[in-house]
Amino acid sequence: MVNVSEGVVTRHYTQNVSGFLAALGESGESVIESRIRGIETGLARLQDEAEQGLRPWLFLPGDKSDLPAIQEAAEAIAADADDVLLLGTGGSSLGARALASLAAAGRPRLHVVDNLSGPVFEGLLRRLDLTRTHILAISKSGGTVETLASLLIAFEAAKSVGGMAGRVTAVVEPGGSILRKLAEAEGYRVIDHDPALGGRFSVLSVVGLLPAALLGLDIERIRDGAEASVRAAMDAPSPLESAPALGAALAVELAERNGQTLSVLMCYEDRLARFADWYGQLWAESLGKEGKGLTPVPALGPVDQHSQVQLYLDGPRDKAFTFVTLDQPPAALTIPPAVAAGLNLGYLAGRSIADLVDCSGRATMDAMAERGLPVREIRLHGLDEAGLGALFAHFMIETAIAGHLLGIDAYDQPAVERGKVLARQYLSEMG
Ligand code: PA5
Repeated sequence: MVNVSEGVVTRHYTQNVSGFLAALGESGESVIESRIRGIETGLARLQDEAEQGLRPWLFLPGDKSDLPAIQEAAEAIAADADDVLLLGTGGSSLGARALASLAAAGRPRLHVVDNLSGPVFEGLLRRLDLTRTHILAISKSGGTVETLASLLIAFEAAKSVGGMAGRVTAVVEPGGSILRKLAEAEGYRVIDHDPALGGRFSVLSVVGLLPAALLGLDIERIRDGAEASVRAAMDAPSPLESAPALGAALAVELAERNGQTLSVLMCYEDRLARFADWYGQLWAESLGKEGKGLTPVPALGPVDQHSQVQLYLDGPRDKAFTFVTLDQPPAALTIPPAVAAGLNLGYLAGRSIADLVDCSGRATMDAMAERGLPVREIRLHGLDEAGLGALFAHFMIETAIAGHLLGIDAYDQPAVERGKVLARQYLSEMG
């Protein structure tokens, strides 16, 4: 029998999978034993592919050589911008949104335009001082219709208030895409998107780090945190001590054995809500193929206790739950003891908001465990740039290994491409 370490401790988080194992029954550990070979080959394959240059996201965290250029670009943009309009979508925007949740308010302000809405976008363009706004268009392919449409509109609006050449930056892969040609023709600053880096695996590249640097985040610490996760996962003494590989194997096992194909990621921290969205895209677009896949369900605590948890506890037993919790920092906001005691709320007296959130998370996890539902906890030791970097790397590796175990290519998105072709066709057919 394999000794599956229930708690894998890494520098920035601890993963506890005891609830996943329990939900697989007494045979939990022996079940996972049969997966060891798959995990080993998955990790070895990932390493090989990275060494061949096919998975730059795995080595990126350990490489800091591009950071000065990213920082310089951010400083040049920030020098004459109060606002930055980030135009991009999917893998070109969700990582930046997740990182932005860590930033304190300041200048420049970042506005992410990824889900197009005429009235919302128009309102934003009206509110901004376009003479002090920088347009940052991010598109790996350089041909995504939403990004091009928003760029053409924003560029035209901004041009009408003065020369724009120095106030547009395009992050796009080399080649002859429309965005690339437009950037060269109009004299935008162009930063290369690595062609080998898929959109949803690009958060640790310039795609996520340029917006992060613009917001004043420490981009080296983001990479450092990610590097710690990569090293812990790839150099683990045994495959079952690689936190993301173990997480992937158990998720696939729960899906195949118990039919628990919905992967709920419930973060007990407001600043991780956008991270859950980033995870949702990564897991869905990478794993949903050929009739197979696991469906991500981003969730947020404690608010979703009052929205989703009834279903989670008492509805169909088709879900596996990952809770992301925080070792809370010393309390900033505390419930006044005298007032709470006066209201017979002794259990709240002197407690902090952090205590309340943490106890709510523990209570929900325990309630699920009591019902035999599969629960895993990823407890972040701190939520800062390094902690978030560590989470990004964990889930990219977990996705890669899950793809390997499911026998699908985690890096393409053939079905989405068809929709893009049809959308272009319908637009050109309009009268
Ligand atoms: O992960 C992916 O590949 C996609 O979600 C893309 O990021 C998204 O479609 C945007 O593509 P692009 O960056 O080419 O504009």
